[in-house]
Amino acid sequence: MRTSLFTLFLLLSLTGLAQNKVIDPGAVWPDDKGNHIQAHGGGIIKIKNTYYWYGEERSKGLDPGYRYVSCYSSKDLMNWKFKGDVVKMSDPENLGAGWILERPKVYYNKPTKKYVMYFHLDTKNYQYARVGIAVSDKPDGNFTFVKSFRPLDHQSRDIGQFIDDDGTAYLVFEDRALGFHIVKLADDYMGVEKEMSLVRMPLEGGAIAHYDGLYYAIGSSLTGWNPNANKYATATSLEGPWSEFKDIALPETKTYQSQSTMMIKVVGTKSTTVIFMADKWNPKAQWDSRYLWMPLEISNGKLWLNEPKPWSIDIKTGSYKFSN
Ligand code: DGJ
Repeated sequence: MRTSLFTLFLLLSLTGLAQNKVIDPGAVWPDDKGNHIQAHGGGIIKIKNTYYWYGEERSKGLDPGYRYVSCYSSKDLMNWKFKGDVVKMSDPENLGAGWILERPKVYYNKPTKKYVMYFHLDTKNYQYARVGIAVSDKPDGNFTFVKSFRPLDHQSRDIGQFIDDDGTAYLVFEDRALGFHIVKLADDYMGVEKEMSLVRMPLEGGAIAHYDGLYYAIGSSLTGWNPNANKYATATSLEGPWSEFKDIALPETKTYQSQSTMMIKVVGTKSTTVIFMADKWNPKAQWDSRYLWMPLEISNGKLWLNEPKPWSIDIKTGSYKFSN
């Protein structure tokens, strides 16, 4: 009996059928092939009933002349199928050795039927400070580089993505000179239409959620790859005014050693869960950077990130539970 169970387990593992039953914040997160997910500084969109997660592909042994963006798909947010690297880009604008492509975010534009990827494009010293755009006809690529620009003529480093309940698409970007911008994308998503808010706070890793009549904006301080106490503010409209910023978690934990990248709202038949998605960077071994995903506690205008522990989500009901 023991042997046959073991054989079954072995077979399941070998055939790649082993399922992730939980999200274990900070642990290695195996994809459908058993490899640690490489989608750092990522963004997620939902197309029909499939989620697509795009992020920085930082596997060991990649060709240093290129920058790579990976794509994974999932129906349950726990099990992710590697769809391949949807970007393999060589230096698009003579930026020189060490050029940077970070924090890719993909939007689907219904009128043009194009998948539009925004990313932070920069030189090694982070002085170019622009967004790049690449497009694809399919969610899983390939994406072709189109152009780069400074949104509304501002410096732009970290970017964040927010799609409101009515489908309107926004970009969040960090502008060291001024602060945290929230801008609406143009109708075809190939540029920026107007500024909704400029929050005069030096914040990056920008993430927004719309929950129960309030907008919540999260960001981290500017401490490079090192974690810090991420903060949030609220507003009844994306145009503000924004409340003062408060800690999202016990400040001494430095957001449990992580940095925000996005929030996803899962609306189910029973409840709505907002998930905090963050990166636990490992700058000396980026391929081993981990993810911290946790359901947020939100009520009465207050948001809180509890101590991370394994949990699972039911996409149908929108409910989550901790495994112990
Ligand atoms: C912090 C940003 O959030 C990251 O995306 C990356 O740009 C690092 N800084 C680089 O130091």
